[in-house]
Order: sequence, then structure tokens, then C-alpha cells
Amino acid sequence: MFYRGRRLRKNHVIRGLMREHALSAQDLIYPLFLMEGLSGKQEVSSMPGVYQYGLDALEEVVKELKEAGIRAVILFGIPQHKDCMGTSAYHEHGIVQEGIKKLKELDEELYLIGDVCMCEYTDHGHCGILNEQGVVQNDVTLEYLNKIALSYAEAGIDMIAPSDMMDGHIASLRNALDEHGYYDLPIMGYSAKYASNYYGPFREAAHSAPGFGDRKSYQMDYGNGKEALREIEADIQEGADIIMIKPALAYMDVIKEASQRFDYPICAYNVSGEYSMLKLAVKNGLMKEEVIYETLLSLKRAGADLIITYFALEIAKKL
Ligand code: PBG
Ligand code: ZN
Repeated sequence: MFYRGRRLRKNHVIRGLMREHALSAQDLIYPLFLMEGLSGKQEVSSMPGVYQYGLDALEEVVKELKEAGIRAVILFGIPQHKDCMGTSAYHEHGIVQEGIKKLKELDEELYLIGDVCMCEYTDHGHCGILNEQGVVQNDVTLEYLNKIALSYAEAGIDMIAPSDMMDGHIASLRNALDEHGYYDLPIMGYSAKYASNYYGPFREAAHSAPGFGDRKSYQMDYGNGKEALREIEADIQEGADIIMIKPALAYMDVIKEASQRFDYPICAYNVSGEYSMLKLAVKNGLMKEEVIYETLLSLKRAGADLIITYFALEIAKKL
């Protein structure tokens, strides 16, 4: 006698009964790039099917999201003005702040998550404030991140997601929010964020490539797994409500391990490079479109509860 696994694979009904995991539109978060001064939308050349939106073009995508059942978005801003202090990031009338108000006007139930970072807003493109030697200053940067988060909160954001990778940022943000009465505003930490080559297409979309050097002094070394667990542990202790692992596909071991170790909601960020790889492969006929579903479902299998993905809109239309 031997194990006959094929008994339970005979037809699609029994395969359906046996399927362990599911992907649903309510698990997905769609990234939106808001571009100051733009009228209409323009496609990001490195990410076919992904657009930068002017505020006047949001109505159409909001309608599409609603029809597809995608109820949450994460916002990234592309300002017209950049300087060394990233002032456009915490300006009352900044692109994200205005975008929040506009999106809430269009659909008050659309759940808005604000990416909190400085790299789109600084002229040098780093995620924090530099000293004269060009080194990102951790504790100085925390003050600026607080300003960004508070200005998003005032505009009506539903959740913040700091992607800067500064030490102590969750505690600092939690205190700042609480001091201003925003006790109910959750924080999703980009807890284990690696210094990854998979962010290439995003940096074109968000105009956020560093002007010199790289992000290796704040983002994690991709050779490390245990370090990710320490970063996650720290974010939880500091008060993060949700933890995130980014990128997703090359880091499924981290997703799996974190989901077994921490009883916290886990978000996987299926990043721009992962999107473009698959998108181009499908576009060029190298793989069937179903590979997108297979890939996103595999993130659920690995232990992700929620997924940020540029595929959210197109996949949700098919679920
Ligand atoms: C900025 C930020 C990045 C991403 C999200 N927020 C890029 C970076 O760190 O350079 C990456 C998203 C993606 O590649 O899809 N802190
Ligand atoms: Zn950044």
C-alpha cells in the first residue's frame, strides 16, 4: 500500500473542497501614486498598467476600485517641489493631504493608508534628514516623520504606514498621534524592509531614487533572516498594529516565520519589481495570466493576511 494523493485531485469539485487557502478582494491594498500639478493620468513606463494620477483623474479610479471590490489604497505623493527638509511632505496643502480630502469626497468609505517617508520629498532622495557628511540622522528624522503623520491625520487618513526604516519610529509616531488625540489611528510598520533591487520600477514611478549612495544604512541587508524577526519584535513592542514584510516573493521565508512566531496581522508588500517581472512575462506570452493569481495566493499560503499589490485592481475584477 502507498499514499494515493491523486484520490483528492480527481475533478475540480474535490480540488475546490481540498483547497486550503483563498484570495479575496478584501485582503488586497492598491497603491496609488498622486502627482502634484498633473492633469489626467499617465502610465508609468516601467510598470505597464500602473498610473500616476492627477487629482482630477481620481474619480475614475475610485469608481473602478469600488466596482472591483477593492476597499483600501496606500497613497504615495510626487510633489512639484523638493528640498533638503522635505517640506512638501508635511505641508497642509501637500499632494497627499489634498489627495486624502479629494478621495474622501469621492468615496468616504474608501480606506486610506498613508505611506510615511521623506524620499519622495527630499532633493537628495534619502528617507530622512542628512547631516553635513550626508548621513541620515535618525532622531532628527523622527520629528519630521511625526509632522508628516500628523498632517495626514488632520487631512483624514485612516492608517499610517511608515516606510523610512528609522529606529524608534513606531514609538515616536504612536506618541505623537496619541498626544494629538489620534488614539484610534492604526500604524502598519514596514517592519522588515530590505535594501532591495526589486524597488527599481517604484523609484521611477515615485521619483524617489536616492541622488547619491544607497539605502543600505537604514534598510535591511538581504542576507539576513533573524534580523527581520528582531525588527518586527521592536515594532510590536513600540506599538505597531500590523507588521509588514517587504519585498514579498524573495522573502517568503520571513513571512512564514513571522506568521508562526507573532500573533499579529501580517502584510506582504508585493513590490514594483515583482509586479513588472510578472507583468512583462505575461505580456510577452511567456506565462499564462493565471500566474498572477498563483503568486498572490502563494503569499497567503506563506502566512500573509493582507497584501499590498499593483495587481489588486486587475485581479479583483476576476475574483
Ligand atoms: C519609500 C518606499 C519605497 C517603496 C515603498 N516606499 C522604495 C524605496 O525604499 O526606495 C517600494 C515600493 C515598491 O517597490 O513597490 N520609502
Ligand atoms: Zn523612503
